[in-house]
Amino acid sequence: MQIKTSPNKNSIAVLDYGSQYSQLITRVIREMQVYCELFPWDASKDKIFGINPKGFILSGGPNSVYEPNAPFLPEFILESGLPVLGICYGMQLLAISLDGQVVGSKDREYGLAHINVDQENPLIPKGEHQVWMSHGDRIKTPPSGFQIMAASSNSPVACMGDIEKKRYGVQFHPEVKHTPIGREVIKRFVIEVCNISPDWTAEKIINSAVEKIRDQVGNQPVLSAISGGVDSSVATALVQKAVGDQLTAVFVDNGLLRKNEREQVETVFRERLGKNLIVSDAVEPFMSALRDVQDPEKKRKIIGETFIRIFEKEAHNAGKPKFLVQGTIYPDVIESSAPDRSKGHRIKSHHNVGGLPEDLSFNLVEPLRYLFKDEVRSIGEALGLPAALVWRQPFPGPGLAVRCLGQITKERLDCLRDADAIFIEELNNAGLMAYSSDSSRDSISQAFAVLLPVQSVGVMGDQRTYHEVIALRAVTTSDFMTADWAKLPDPLLSKVANRIVNEVFGVNRVVYDITSKPPATIEWE
Ligand code: XMP
Repeated sequence: MQIKTSPNKNSIAVLDYGSQYSQLITRVIREMQVYCELFPWDASKDKIFGINPKGFILSGGPNSVYEPNAPFLPEFILESGLPVLGICYGMQLLAISLDGQVVGSKDREYGLAHINVDQENPLIPKGEHQVWMSHGDRIKTPPSGFQIMAASSNSPVACMGDIEKKRYGVQFHPEVKHTPIGREVIKRFVIEVCNISPDWTAEKIINSAVEKIRDQVGNQPVLSAISGGVDSSVATALVQKAVGDQLTAVFVDNGLLRKNEREQVETVFRERLGKNLIVSDAVEPFMSALRDVQDPEKKRKIIGETFIRIFEKEAHNAGKPKFLVQGTIYPDVIESSAPDRSKGHRIKSHHNVGGLPEDLSFNLVEPLRYLFKDEVRSIGEALGLPAALVWRQPFPGPGLAVRCLGQITKERLDCLRDADAIFIEELNNAGLMAYSSDSSRDSISQAFAVLLPVQSVGVMGDQRTYHEVIALRAVTTSDFMTADWAKLPDPLLSKVANRIVNEVFGVNRVVYDITSKPPATIEWE
């Protein structure tokens, strides 16, 4: 059974026709504190109406509306009489599902364009606006009852609407930041056209999740695995709020954590869970399983398997609860149910070490299943978790194992931990880490040190040294799929390099990674 944290009123359903921006539409609406869910375009009526939507948004998509087998608009959408906003392909679908006409075009319109809005209307303010276009087909004749509300030099119908029936279409993408007026358009549709009052606040999310967790687990014991990451921490805090002492949380110290990480997690959760927090000291089993292993994929596999073994033992000791908390968040759910988009090659197997042991059968408690990362952070703050935990940068499940290149030994890990801590401390002192809701878009999304598998010659005093090399990595990114290397100030880089060489025994050289992703990845392994 899954927990659904939906308010059952004041919500919007977005139908996904395969656009790369579909998820973004949903996020933009959630940022307006309005509950919204993304459905595959062919989801059942019961599923879609299960959230009790007050309006629909039809996303863009890669198809052409007249193609055989092109995704279509289910009849029940228009039959409902609820407001509809079609974006790009969604607009064209709306047109042909009524009595409008769409024409194909060999010339795609892709990129920035300007539209003119001559008259005041409920959707888009009067004036000239810059918008982002990405389409081949275009509307030739809007359906009857629709008026043309905006045009560009390439799209005579850039925006159309039937004001009485509250049906609108935009040829451009209002959800992307290249359309500065876009948020206003979406806001007007959601708040004014659909008549929704924003109520999707942290307090409401928490209350609704607490109620549903209680309904799901009753008075049964519940188990949780804390990794120290944002999602598992917030999910655990939420379940603890809901069921108190029924919850036991396990934190496995695999020896691959960052400096002071175990202590920080222990302090936060000991206060909440008391003796129901189990900190499993598993450094030895992990170190011996990783001895002499250098291949990154082998490391990931061994770490995943070792974790499962330890977790099983702890679950057994805790009386084998039937319920397990998982910090699954909405983007993971959307990805796994998305319409076929071209599937990329697997570059790294991102085994999540906090992942579910496959042969243990649990009922999953997933209180974050319908939440975006920003929402998870905001309820984390509302639950009183410390900012350093709520705004923590991502840390890979296999931990420092994929940053300690070459032999993994306790000594090398300590050296890496110390160098990493210096780097992060200096970035924090300079206010450069993205650690709060008001940090700027240019803040660093992820930064860390990597210990390289080579030694280099140096000179300290009059002595020749032959010691380890540390690489520093810092990137800016919004989605971690692509990333830019961060242009850090020279004085900061020299200070970090000096401190590392002077304070971390065994390191005599520091280099800075200036590759973006692609072609490199963020981690080195
Ligand atoms: P890459 O290195 O693929 O990383 O550019 C993208 C993001 O994923 C994180 N990462 C992992 N996370 N298990 C995880 O849970 C892994 O095996 C793993 N490998 C990379 C990485 O830190 C970055 O945030």
